[in-house]
Amino acid sequence: MMTPEASQQAGAEALRPGIALNSAGHLANPFATYRTLREQHPVCRVEPDGLWAITRFADVRFAMQHYELFSSLGFKPLLQPDWLSPQCRRGGFMLAEDPPDHTRHRALVNRAFVNRVVAELIPLMRQQAGELVAQIQARTRAGQGVEFLRDFAYPYIGRIIGRLTGTEETQTLEEIRQWVAFLETIPPTRPAADYIAALEAALIKQNDYFRAIIRDRREKPRQDLITALVNAEVGGEKLSDDLLRQSLDLFIGAGFQTTIQTLNHAMMQLARLPQLMRDLRAEPALIPAFIEEVLRFNPPGHCVLRKTTAAVTLSGVTLPADEYVLVILASANRDPGQFPQPDKFDMARDNAKQHLTFGYGVHTCIGANLARLEVKIALETILPAFTAVSCPPDEALPWIDSFLSRGVTELPLQFA
Ligand code: HEM
Repeated sequence: MMTPEASQQAGAEALRPGIALNSAGHLANPFATYRTLREQHPVCRVEPDGLWAITRFADVRFAMQHYELFSSLGFKPLLQPDWLSPQCRRGGFMLAEDPPDHTRHRALVNRAFVNRVVAELIPLMRQQAGELVAQIQARTRAGQGVEFLRDFAYPYIGRIIGRLTGTEETQTLEEIRQWVAFLETIPPTRPAADYIAALEAALIKQNDYFRAIIRDRREKPRQDLITALVNAEVGGEKLSDDLLRQSLDLFIGAGFQTTIQTLNHAMMQLARLPQLMRDLRAEPALIPAFIEEVLRFNPPGHCVLRKTTAAVTLSGVTLPADEYVLVILASANRDPGQFPQPDKFDMARDNAKQHLTFGYGVHTCIGANLARLEVKIALETILPAFTAVSCPPDEALPWIDSFLSRGVTELPLQFA
């Protein structure tokens, strides 16, 4: 029989099994780690930092649903590290808020982010996709390879988000890219002083751009999302200039890389399964089902962050109060209890849309339909133009060095 000390130690080890999400092994194949976690340690501490991780579909959905137990204040350390000077810390507008603040702010944004705003972007999407595909065809005819991020995903999504947020009038796409790249590499611990100085300069500059756009729409209202946000009113409340600035920051922060990487994942899938490309070319009506399965299979964001407000028991394990939790959406999407044969890419599954890639509950992604439309129009333009596409194997691709998101920094493709 185990002594009480040995049994206590075994219990502690079961809760902290030494699984490192920042290890090279995990980054090479995160889905293998998630399987181990789901099967053996569905609720446990992982490295780095002994953060808690939740991996089963039912637990993940429960955590997203119960904001009173799993607070979105969990995002604060990522947005507002204490080594940044106060004027540079990013606000937690909507994303890092809980009801009732979140409810009021989301209602205001919903007033502005209506279907018409998305529909008005369609001609721009079609035109931009058409021009970029024509350039890719010219490169292909000249026997040149394509780097899909540079040649399609960045300029296509960048143009749309630039129009949506007004930044296309004030900045180049390259400037936005650099700002987003900065945000994505903000380290959890205090970095070197010169890095902090460069980051703070970039944040201050970007905030000035956002303020100028808001000032412009106050003076010269237009038919666009920013003007609608400026004028949105619910129960006598309007968004302050600072919250308007934070919403533009959030739209780019949440809607740029995520959609770019979804496009990348879609292209990689077409390259891996050539029959899929033939099926979609023959029957374009299948494109929405294909997109849903790409989102389930390879979500661009793997985790969201939460903080427990009280002790809570999931899968038989009690998480204490005030703990930071990684809620792993990408693992929930591969839970065989919810999606039979989860590692098989199958666009015929009838419950694909139940994936948690856009979240669940009060914070469900506000841009989900915009993102789906962007990817649909891109594929409707790319698929008729080429009969086949190929790309290097997963292990030869440069993956983003992050366990929070999944995507590549370059995607060499060969079209035919
Ligand atoms: C494939 C692309 C996208 C994915 C996978 C995605 C994913 C998500 C997820 C998982 C959440 C929930 C976060 C949480 O619960 O903590 C979220 C929230 C959000 N997303 Fe998206 N997103 C995408 C595209 C977009 C786009 C294009 C926009 C807008 C331009 C956008 C704007 C937002 C906003 C504003 C929120 C915060 C909502 C709230 O807190 O109530 N997203 N997104």
